[in-house]
Amino acid sequence: MTDLTVRRLLIDLERPVARHWCGGDAFLTAWFNALSMSFPVGEQFFIDSVRDGAKALPESERAAWEAEVKGFVGQEATHRRIHALFNAQIEKHGLVNAWAPRAEARMKVLAGADPRHALGITAANEHFTALFAEWLLGHPEVLAHSEPRLQALWLWHSAEEAEHKSTAFDLYQALGGNHAWRVKWMRRITVFFLADALRQTVNNLRRDGTLWRWSTWRSAARHLLGRQGLLRETFAPWRAYFRPDFHPEHQHSERSATWLRENSALFVAVGR
Ligand SMILES: [Fe+2]
Ligand SMILES: [Fe+2]
Repeated sequence: MTDLTVRRLLIDLERPVARHWCGGDAFLTAWFNALSMSFPVGEQFFIDSVRDGAKALPESERAAWEAEVKGFVGQEATHRRIHALFNAQIEKHGLVNAWAPRAEARMKVLAGADPRHALGITAANEHFTALFAEWLLGHPEVLAHSEPRLQALWLWHSAEEAEHKSTAFDLYQALGGNHAWRVKWMRRITVFFLADALRQTVNNLRRDGTLWRWSTWRSAARHLLGRQGLLRETFAPWRAYFRPDFHPEHQHSERSATWLRENSALFVAVGR
C-alpha cells in the first residue's frame, strides 16, 4: 500500500496568466494548456473508477485499501480543482476546450460496464501521466522561464502523479483484472491520448495565431522528438507496460520525492 499525502498548493490562480506563460514558447504553452484542459474531466473519471473499483472489492479487503483510495481521491480532487482555476485563466486568451466534451461523450459508453474496464483505462492514463511527470521533473529547463507559481503547479502535480502511479494498477490487479485487457486498454488509450493531446494543442495554437510560425514547429520537434524530447525519452518505459510482469513501481520516480522534500514551503499537508 502507498502512503499518500494530500497537499494544498499555496499559489494564487486568481491572477491572470500570460498568453505565452511557458517561457514565451508558443508550442510548449499550447501543449501544457491542452493537457490541463483534459484534467478536470479526466481526473474525475480516475476518481470515480478507483472509488467504484474499491466498492467492488470483497468486504474483507476493503479496509486495507481505504487509506490509499482516500489519498488518491484527495490528490486527484485537488489537481482537478486547481487546474480548473488555471483553465479559467487560459480560456480568457480565447482558447476553447474541445477535448473535455469529446472525452465526456466517450465515457458514456462505459456506463454499467465491469468496473475493471474503467480501472484499466485509468491505469493506462496514470502510466502516461507518470511518464510525463518523470520527464518534466527531469528537465527543469522546460519550465525554467515560467513564473514560479506555474512551475509550482506543474511540478507539484507531476510529483503527486509519480507518488500515486500504482494505485489504479494495483486495484485493477486486486480485482482480478487480466493482462490481455490491461494491454488492450493501453493500446487504445495511447491512440486516443496522443490524438486528443495533439488535436487540442493545434486548436490552441490556431486560436493563438501561432500555428504557422517556424519557431512553433521547431519547439515541437525539439521537445517531442529531439534527443531529450518527451516521445523519445518515454518510449521505452511506455513499452514496458506491455510486459506481463510490469509494475509501475519498477520505474523510478526519485525525482518526485526530492521535489516534494525540497519544495515543502509551497504547500500544506491537509490529510493522509
Ligand atoms: Fe492528477
Ligand atoms: Fe493521477
